[in-house]
Order: sequence, then C-alpha cells, then structure tokens
Amino acid sequence: MQFKGKVAIVTGAGQGIGEAYAKGLAAEGASVVVAELNEAQGRRVADEIVGAGGIATFVHVDVGSPESTQAMAQATIDAYGGIDFLVNNAAIFHGMKLDALISVDWEYYKKFMDVNMHGALLCVRACFRSMKKRGGGAIVNQSSTAAWMAVGYYGLAKLAVNGLTQSLARELGPMNIRVNAIAPGPTDTEASRSIVPEVYMKEILSQMPLSRQGQPEDLVGTCVFLLSDASAWVTGQIVNVDGGQIMRP
Ligand SMILES: NC(=O)c1ccc[n+]([C@@H]2O[C@H](COP(=O)([O-])OP(=O)(O)OC[C@H]3O[C@@H](n4cnc5c(N)ncnc54)[C@H](O)[C@@H]3O)[C@@H](O)[C@H]2O)c1
Repeated sequence: MQFKGKVAIVTGAGQGIGEAYAKGLAAEGASVVVAELNEAQGRRVADEIVGAGGIATFVHVDVGSPESTQAMAQATIDAYGGIDFLVNNAAIFHGMKLDALISVDWEYYKKFMDVNMHGALLCVRACFRSMKKRGGGAIVNQSSTAAWMAVGYYGLAKLAVNGLTQSLARELGPMNIRVNAIAPGPTDTEASRSIVPEVYMKEILSQMPLSRQGQPEDLVGTCVFLLSDASAWVTGQIVNVDGGQIMRP
C-alpha cells in the first residue's frame, strides 16, 4: 500500500492496459480516477476497483480536448483534493483505421494526432499545477515499440510521445515532477487482437528473446516503479517492457 493517500489519474482506463494500470495502482492504495471516453467501460472498472476494496471514481474525458482535460483535472481535485500521478495511456488504438500517411483522410489524421500525440500534453497541461502545489509528482506516458518501426501515423504519434516525455521531463523537473514513458511490446488486449493480423504477430514473436505476447499485468510493475519513490532520480526515460522485442534481428 505504498500509494496510500496518493491520487492517480489513468486515462483510457476502461479496458486493456489502462484497466490493468488503474487496478494495479488502486491495489497499491492510490485513489484512482478512471478517466475514459467510453462511459460504460470506465464506470465498470471504477466499480470493480471499489468492489475489491479500493478507491476509484470514473471521470469522463476526451484527452484530445483542452476543455475536457481541464474538467478532468478539476473533477479529480474536487473528489480527492489534488493530483500526484498521471498515466497518459489513452489512445485511438482499438478499431483504428489502417491507412498510409500519404493517403489517410486528413480529418481522420488530425483527430488521430489530437488524441494520440496531443492528448498526453493536454493532460499534463491540465494536471501539472496541482502536482506542483503538492510539492511534486510523477507522470508515465504510454509509448510503444512501434515508435521505432516506421508504421505510419500510429508510430509517428508514439515517437512524438517519446519526444514529449523528454522535453516535459526538462520543463517539469524543476517542479519536482518526473516524466517517463513505458514502451510496451506486443501486448495481448482486445485491441491488439483486432488490429494485428495473426501471421504478423507470429512473425514478431518468433524474433523476440521472450517469445510470447505480454499480458497487461506484465506492464504494471514498471508503471508502479516509475511513479514510486524507488525511481526518485529517474526522469526523461523511455522504458521498453517488451520481452526483448527491441533487440530483434
Ligand atoms: N496492446 C498493445 O500491443 C500495445 C503495445 C504498445 C502500446 N500500446 C498502447 O497502450 C495503450 C493501451 O492499449 P490497449 O491495447 O489497451 O488499447 P485499447 O484501445 O483497448 O485502449 C485504449 C483506451 O483508450 C480509450 N480512449 C480512446 N480515445 C480516447 C480519448 N479521446 N479520450 C479518452 N480515452 C480514450 C479507449 O476507450 C480505450 O479504453 C495505448 O496507448 C496503445 O497505443 C498497446
């Protein structure tokens, strides 16, 4: 219960990896805001945390909207008095259009980038003042090994998340706010099952030292570490949690 009394926002926590992060932080004693676009799923996760004896509230958010992210931060402060941790996990992933940079519909591309690239920055802009007021805080951004795989706008947005992580680490370090990222490898969620073709997944896995897909729970320990005092002198890092995928031949 190392996070007892701490307040954590996890975006996109209604399913998949975000759900595992929210439940993992709640198990460490944090009061968790399940910040989600999908109300039914967000409420389900918050209810399950409370049912298991944890502290959680659902807050509706569209991370691509400045107004909505400000409202998310305010709702958190109203509910729990401030913000210590922010996990920027939300992204358009499940059901995303698969197209090329040179042909994707421009309006779709801009919406995608608003959520997957600017979403993390908008959430940080909404939350950092409360962290500063409380003497510091910690932020984890969700990147991907796809950042380095030249896979169109999905990878481009994750590469931007890496850059954002490093620049924000510089800007927020003097306020005692640390900013790191997790770059998961192929992780078994409903979203990845719907997007990555099975033969492509087999090919990826065959080249990895730990030749299996990750489970969302495989990522939780690193998230807890990056938010905790055990990483008090760690900032601006992109931590691969990927079964060694980054070393593929
Ligand atoms: N699953 C993988 O293999 C994998 C690998 C590397 C990185 N990632 C990243 O991990 C994160 C979670 O992945 P997942 O597999 O659980 O995907 P997912 O699609 O199941 O989860 C994304 C969540 O974000 C929410 N969301 C989408 N748009 C939003 C918005 N505008 N505002 C608020 N919430 C919004 C969705 O409703 C959903 O609950 C994503 O950032 C994804 O890019 C996933």
